[in-house]
Amino acid sequence: MVFGFAFDFTLTVSAMPPEYEESFIRRLEIMWGEGFLSPGGADEVGAILGNEDLFGAQVLDIGSGAGGAALLLAREYAARRVIGVDIVPELVERSRRLCEAAGMSQRVSFELVVPGPLPFVADSIDVIFTKDSLLHFPDKVAIFQEIFRVLRPGGRFLCSDWLAGKNIAQCQAWSKFLELRRPSFVMVNVETMVQTMGEAGFVDVTAVDRTSWFTEAAQRDVEAVEGPQRASLQELLGETEYGIWVAVRHAIAEAAAFGALRPTHLRGRKPVNVDVDQS
Ligand SMILES: C[S@@+](CC[C@H](N)C(=O)[O-])C[C@H]1O[C@@H](n2cnc3c(N)ncnc32)[C@H](O)[C@@H]1O
Repeated sequence: MVFGFAFDFTLTVSAMPPEYEESFIRRLEIMWGEGFLSPGGADEVGAILGNEDLFGAQVLDIGSGAGGAALLLAREYAARRVIGVDIVPELVERSRRLCEAAGMSQRVSFELVVPGPLPFVADSIDVIFTKDSLLHFPDKVAIFQEIFRVLRPGGRFLCSDWLAGKNIAQCQAWSKFLELRRPSFVMVNVETMVQTMGEAGFVDVTAVDRTSWFTEAAQRDVEAVEGPQRASLQELLGETEYGIWVAVRHAIAEAAAFGALRPTHLRGRKPVNVDVDQS
């Protein structure tokens, strides 16, 4: 089942506020650290990797946002080369500046892409990483086919994503969140994600439920937004927008506690021999 929220197409494209505009990016960085636009920031990148070793690997980060994760994968986790792709020009520029300032531009680069096929040749990437970005992809079948195509045989897929909990349609807090933010999310349930990965050809597919961690983290985010981060967020957003932002963070925390959101770590592997290795 697919749960999404489409933009109101009666608006013209030019009238539509961009989803990742400057003040949105900056408020997320206030919450999760420079370069990070999703819950848990650097710590959660480590949790997605778990015991996976990136030493010497060529890594693609899909939906690289403000570049923090890509930088971390190279600097802290010893990936040989990281390429981040995103569809927002400002985020790609920002990511490049972050990596230049860190002296890591030789090993970490960013490409502006358009939604659609990934601009990489088949069998070319060791590891595909993506954090909380696939929820923006409307066609899960197409993106998993692309991820599978681009991975080298034996290559690994490491991901975190916001999936739909079973009761999402009954969750008033989630409806409130959609009304307040109007995000371009298309969220599916975990069974659909795992099945789609399997049909794309992945083996060793695992899904780890992160709801418990996320629920606590979202509550801590509420407390931080209303506490230590309040002054900087008010200065950035102004009083009215700050109030809306507080309501957004409450809605997310309540939706997580209700079970409507099912943040999940997904992993899979492209078989060494696509025709033979289904072990
Ligand atoms: C919630 S942010 C996460 C960013 C980053 N992974 C992080 O954790 O900080 C989702 C990102 O996905 C990007 N995105 C959305 N659709 C995309 C697409 N079709 N291809 C690449 N990136 C996309 C957005 O621009 C945004 O930067």
